[in-house]
Amino acid sequence: MKFEGRHILSTKQFDKSALIALFEKAGEMEEQIKEGKSDILSGKILASLFFEPSTRTRFSFEAAMQRLRGGVVSNADMMNTSSLTKLETLYDTGKVVSQIADVIVMRHPEAGSVAKLAEGSDVPVINAGDGPSEHPTQGLLDLYTIWKNYGKIDGLTIGLVGDLKNSRVLHSNSDLLKHFDVKFVLVSPEELCLPEEIENDLKESGCEFVKTDDLLGSVGDMDVLNCNRLQVERFKNSEDAEKYRGSFQVNNEILKAAKKDMIVLCPLPRMEEILKEVDDDPRAKYFQQVENGVAVRMALLAKVLGV
Ligand code: CP
Repeated sequence: MKFEGRHILSTKQFDKSALIALFEKAGEMEEQIKEGKSDILSGKILASLFFEPSTRTRFSFEAAMQRLRGGVVSNADMMNTSSLTKLETLYDTGKVVSQIADVIVMRHPEAGSVAKLAEGSDVPVINAGDGPSEHPTQGLLDLYTIWKNYGKIDGLTIGLVGDLKNSRVLHSNSDLLKHFDVKFVLVSPEELCLPEEIENDLKESGCEFVKTDDLLGSVGDMDVLNCNRLQVERFKNSEDAEKYRGSFQVNNEILKAAKKDMIVLCPLPRMEEILKEVDDDPRAKYFQQVENGVAVRMALLAKVLGV
């Protein structure tokens, strides 16, 4: 896969060799962070366009650009303070911002919206989450965290736990993990299981999976437990979501039943699905994930900008 000059809109663009190349580059970027010397993006500008709230993704993209001595123009409230309020189209916004910046990062609550802006853009656009659809860079940093901790991904059993229906992060995860020889344990209430088309995609890729709503009974099989919160904002009304609250939770009882070297991932933010008591367990890697996200985004920015 060629990265230079390309929009990064979907995990479907990646194959196994592109993933490994990106992870190796992210490893180099971790060294750059320690040494603090790299200026490879000096003179380049990132436009950071967020139409939906974010802490990790926005800060880590902006930090990644600045770590490599690039500049950032940022709007965290595009929905209310950009010229879209004057009915400018996403296509025109992409065209305009690409005359100002060298690369664009965008988050938006509607599926397909980032692709619409990318159609107008003359510079690479990176999808930082488009509604319930995809969150490719979170998927990339999740896999990087697995790769870094185990030195491999092949041969592992991956638990995807939580609101599998609505979690764009877990959709992006399953789409990337299917390039490896992994088994899945899919843990959710029946009504929140993985969408049928994603299950079919896993079947076609030859991935084995089991479905269950019993986290305690299945955690012992997992090498990775990737847990995501109830996506309340994706339900038609929040009362519908409330009946599932507390139906999956990682706590010390779950850890007791898990392998000694299992790792716990979570894209965060968390609500009640991972108790704070888990934070001190060496298997909890969700804060390491945040750190890894900067290195992965540094690598991706460097690659799409061709440096
Ligand atoms: N994990 C993640 O996407 O977090 P933010 O919504 O804070 O960016």
